[in-house]
Amino acid sequence: MENRAAGDDGFADDEFVVNIENVSGKVDYSKLIQRFGSEPIMPGLVERIERLTGRPAHPFLSRGFFFSHRELDKLLDAYEGGRKFYLYTGRGPSTDSMHLGHLIPFIFCKYLQDAFDVPVVIQMTDDEKYLYKQVNLESLRQYTIENVRDIIACGFDVNKTFIFSNLEYIQHLYPNVLRIQKNVTVNQVRAIFGVNDSSNIGKVSFSAIQAAPSFASSFPQVFEGCQNMLCLIPCGIDQDPYFLMTRDVAPRLGSPKPHLIHSKFLPALQGMDKKMSSSVEESAIFLTDSEARIREKVMKYAFSGGQSTISDHRRLGADLNVDISYQYLSFFLEDEKELQRIRAEYSSGKMLTVEVKKILVGLISELVRRHQAARSGISDDLVREFMSVRKLNLSAP
Ligand code: TYM
Repeated sequence: MENRAAGDDGFADDEFVVNIENVSGKVDYSKLIQRFGSEPIMPGLVERIERLTGRPAHPFLSRGFFFSHRELDKLLDAYEGGRKFYLYTGRGPSTDSMHLGHLIPFIFCKYLQDAFDVPVVIQMTDDEKYLYKQVNLESLRQYTIENVRDIIACGFDVNKTFIFSNLEYIQHLYPNVLRIQKNVTVNQVRAIFGVNDSSNIGKVSFSAIQAAPSFASSFPQVFEGCQNMLCLIPCGIDQDPYFLMTRDVAPRLGSPKPHLIHSKFLPALQGMDKKMSSSVEESAIFLTDSEARIREKVMKYAFSGGQSTISDHRRLGADLNVDISYQYLSFFLEDEKELQRIRAEYSSGKMLTVEVKKILVGLISELVRRHQAARSGISDDLVREFMSVRKLNLSAP
């Protein structure tokens, strides 16, 4: 087995925790790579992606937010050799509104879909949220549809994208779910996911359901005639434990291991050591927030790395490593020159926190406004089409 994952009790004393249920503390991403046994994304790999796709890397990649991988280099070797692959990612619809952090893997996935011209499958784990949260199945069905609208609004190509709810698609996944369940022991699940004797039994076996879409054979109709495709999973690194287990079990199923590319977390407004949470309104910008609400949240809550008096600030400048507004800009402000200007002027004390916050409010309001406009144009029929079991267009590469 590759390195052990986060649910392991052995990490309890560490200063930060990253696992499928909990992200807390200031995450040291270099340490996390060592813990998880993944590989850092080096500049050469980014250049190789640019070469292969013939376009500049997405800023999430060139700025190091997607920072870790599992055998992405081998996937690129296979791709260069003419082998097809698909992208797999997902969302646990715990509420009817997603936040900015949730968008990151989907924005990136859409870039990869366009850049490599590949199909995408997106799993909605309504079942997972039922097992882990106090929420009924009827609400979850509704949340799934609302979240699917947000995902479609990221711009996915309907001819190359299949979005499915586990509650509806489970019969197609079930043969692979069974194969996985037969080949993974309770001891492994205990070590990887931290389940214990009092966990509900759904939690013990759920990981097989998130693992199954990593195999093209889980999509007999969707990938008809293309069952030997490889799989690349873009996700936040908190999801890695699922795929550590999947990669471990794959050879026993006679299937290729999925390849992974992991992102860092967009931190909560309150600071780099805080996790955005769907249940804590002030922790995040939600995709349903109005411009006034975005302004209020940023101005009131975004943790500042600036000094406490203007004269100290002019003298010492801001600490950008802890400044949430700057951190958000570095995720979402695509204009590299403008970002560099803000970095230089804010860190030297020439710019004040309030000026940087104003820039952020403008940028995020525009992003959310565009998202809401795209979302409002999505009809029920289009949602149904994305979610219908059908053969995707697999023409590329
Ligand atoms: P969920 O709904 O918790 O999160 C959806 C995706 O968003 C990522 N994410 C973030 N990324 C950056 N910054 C943040 N603050 C942030 N918060 C969440 C998550 O890492 C995830 O990639 N079990 C999964 C659903 C799932 C899935 C998958 C995810 C099913 N199959 C395959 C990835 C790949 C879940 O509950 O995700």
